[in-house]
Formats: sequence, structure tokens, C-alpha cells
Amino acid sequence: MHRIIKEKLPRHIAVIMDGNGRWAKKNMLKRGMGHERGAESVRTVVKTCRELGIQYLTLYAFSVENWQRPKSEVRALISLLETYLKSELVEMKETGIRLFTIGDTEKLPKTVRDLLFRAMEETSGNSGMVLNLALSYGGRDEIISAVQGILRDAKLSNIDEKTITKDVFSQYLYTADMPDPDLLIRTSGEYRLSNFLLWQMAYTELYFTDVLWPDFSKDELIEAIVDYQRRERRFGLVSDQLSKD
Ligand code: FPP
Repeated sequence: MHRIIKEKLPRHIAVIMDGNGRWAKKNMLKRGMGHERGAESVRTVVKTCRELGIQYLTLYAFSVENWQRPKSEVRALISLLETYLKSELVEMKETGIRLFTIGDTEKLPKTVRDLLFRAMEETSGNSGMVLNLALSYGGRDEIISAVQGILRDAKLSNIDEKTITKDVFSQYLYTADMPDPDLLIRTSGEYRLSNFLLWQMAYTELYFTDVLWPDFSKDELIEAIVDYQRRERRFGLVSDQLSKD
């Protein structure tokens, strides 16, 4: 933890938690065990981010594409999510974590939705860290739903097309009012965005590691943050312009 510069922490970290299946195979276990161990890494990363003072943590827990996995695996993932929501609520309350969710949550079974909304409600007054779970999430779906929202509002009141700026558009996304991610971490040696936060990651620093998600530890997280802190974020400007600020 000492290697991290407190003043240069990423405000928002997003994570594509990949490699649970390969971890299980490598350890001659069933895929479900990989997800179970993956849920342990979730606990570790949430706890560490909270301790470090990260303000927003977005985890890609279930994509829209994941619905197409074998039914038994979808069930196992949903059930892990239920277990997680039940077991972590007390800790979230104690540590000041505010739960939030992005995605087409209407598609989730009612039991999960009830648990989610209860946890969101009960943690809504917390200001320590926003834990944002991407569930039934797809970046392209999110953009389309933003366009639909704008068109709906346009029908209700006469919106001048010129008023649709980047800031206005952002307000129609699931992540309205959240800062864009500063750092994206993807595990398991895959170099893709996989339909995750497509609009929001325009200037996000990308960090890829070969470590499989169930093996992703506190030290790995710190390594990713230290790597991020070594980078110069220019947002399309040149170095000199940044140092003048
Ligand atoms: C990718 O591994 C991971 C997922 C599809 C889901 C992520 C879920 C968890 C980490 C566990 C539950 C989450 C919470 C929030 C409690 P993969 O199955 O695609 O791995 P593979 O590419 O090696 O097959």
C-alpha cells in the first residue's frame, strides 16, 4: 500500500473479471468453482478499494451476452450473486459502501432484483465508496437506451437537437452522475473491451494482466494502481499544456 501515491488515486476503477473458467480448468475443478473463487476475489478487491479510498468501483459481473451461457452456469452465477448480496450487506453498511447497479436489471430474476433494490436502498445514505455492479449489462444496449430516452423526452417537450451535448447524452446513460472510469483492469490475458462502458471509456487508462480473476489479489490490485500512477494522462493535449496547470 505504501507504494501508492494517495493524491493520485484513480477516482473510478472498472474491472472486467475474466478467467474464472480457465482457473477452474487449470485446477481440475468445475467451472462453478472458478466463479466461487472469483466471488472471493470480488470481496478482496471491494475491501481493498474501500481501504485505499477509491470512490467508484464498477465490476462487470454479468454481461447481456452471458445469458447465452449454459442454463446451469447462468443459474450458478445468479445464485452466487444472491449469496454475495445477502452476505455482504452488513459489511457494506458498516464500511460505508453504497451499492449501485447498471444494466438491464429487469431481466434478472425477481429474487435477485428484490435483494439488489433492498441493498441499494439500505446503503443509499452511504458516502464511502460506490460499488457499482454491472448486471445484464451491455455497452451498446446502454447507448441505444440513452438514444431512446432522448427521443422519448423529445416527444414530450420540444428539444432542440443542438442541446444534445456530450454532457446531456451522458445523463441518459446508466452511469449518469458517475465520473468516467480512470482505470480499467482486465484479467486473464485478454485484450478486449467486450462491450463494457463503451461511451465512458473514451479516455480510460487500460491495464491488462495475465493473472486469472480468482488469483487476482490485493497485491495485484496495488500493482495495477501503481502502474496507472506512472502514466501521464494527456486527454489529447501535449505534456507542456498539462504541466502549466
Ligand atoms: C468471467 O470468467 C467471469 C464472469 C462471466 C462472471 C464474473 C463473476 C464473478 C467474478 C463471480 C460473482 C460475482 C459477484 C459480484 C459476486 P469466465 O467464465 O468467462 O472465464 P473463462 O473465460 O476462463 O471461461
